[in-house]
Amino acid sequence: MEERAYGKINLTLDILRRREDGFHDLRMVMQSVDLFDEITLNKREGEGIELSCDVGYVPSDGSNIAARAAEAFFRELGIRGEGLSIAIRKTIPVSAGMAGGSSDGAAVLRALGRMYRPDLPAERLEAIAAQVGSDVPYCVRGGTALAEGRGEILTDLPPLPPCWFVLCKPGFPISTPELFSRVRVKQLQFHPDTAGMLRSLEAGDLEGICRRIYNVFEEILPRKYSRVLELKAALLDQGALAAAMTGTGPTVFGVFAGEEAARRAADVIGRVCGRVYVARPVKKYESLV
Ligand code: C5P
Repeated sequence: MEERAYGKINLTLDILRRREDGFHDLRMVMQSVDLFDEITLNKREGEGIELSCDVGYVPSDGSNIAARAAEAFFRELGIRGEGLSIAIRKTIPVSAGMAGGSSDGAAVLRALGRMYRPDLPAERLEAIAAQVGSDVPYCVRGGTALAEGRGEILTDLPPLPPCWFVLCKPGFPISTPELFSRVRVKQLQFHPDTAGMLRSLEAGDLEGICRRIYNVFEEILPRKYSRVLELKAALLDQGALAAAMTGTGPTVFGVFAGEEAARRAADVIGRVCGRVYVARPVKKYESLV
């Protein structure tokens, strides 16, 4: 069983409050992009989950989110004694704010759903996903969606009008828990206009969407990560309609109306940033298969 795991970017990311459980209530407009990992699942003799990955710096033991997703699936559905191998071919940059790990976990859940419980309602799969990580439920469905709560309360949104993304991944990771620990919600000065973003999506107004792209984490980014803001400025300099960091970074994306402008910008920025990708929006997962 083969499955694509698409990466995501945040068109908006807002933090509303810190919760009793240590997590934060968020409000985010998420968008899948056509940069994907390839996940292959095979039943195997014997019991337990085996995992392999083509890049060495991704954990290939039970701590990998893809293995944890498979465990959660079997546990929640009372399926015992299964032997499963999971092979991951990475393309989505790792520790990049693009939900690469979460998307691998979500792809495992979709594939296992098809293999074992094809009639399982999507809500049930997303509830299992929520146990695995905050971004995993969104990654199960993909497309353009509003994610609230920890990230697990999802509302489908109209698809993004046609456009192109240039993604720049600086050569350092940013720790998600570390960045969240810097958040003092009351001290945040700026918040994205999420309501305006929803209206612009409804109207299919790319210019309005671009005006409202914003991630609150940019305001509290430690100085040592100033490269992120430099890349954002470079994207705007190269004609991006908007640019922002995605998730907890460090990847920065720029939005372009056409392919040629996106490829030209990617060429120029590729000279100063090692990993640059050109990508397109992807519609909700169901419509892809
Ligand atoms: O759920 P996940 O394991 O992806 O979250 C990683 C970390 O990000 C959490 O340990 C927490 O520090 C932070 N987080 C948060 N609020 C969220 C999602 C994540 O504080 N809604």
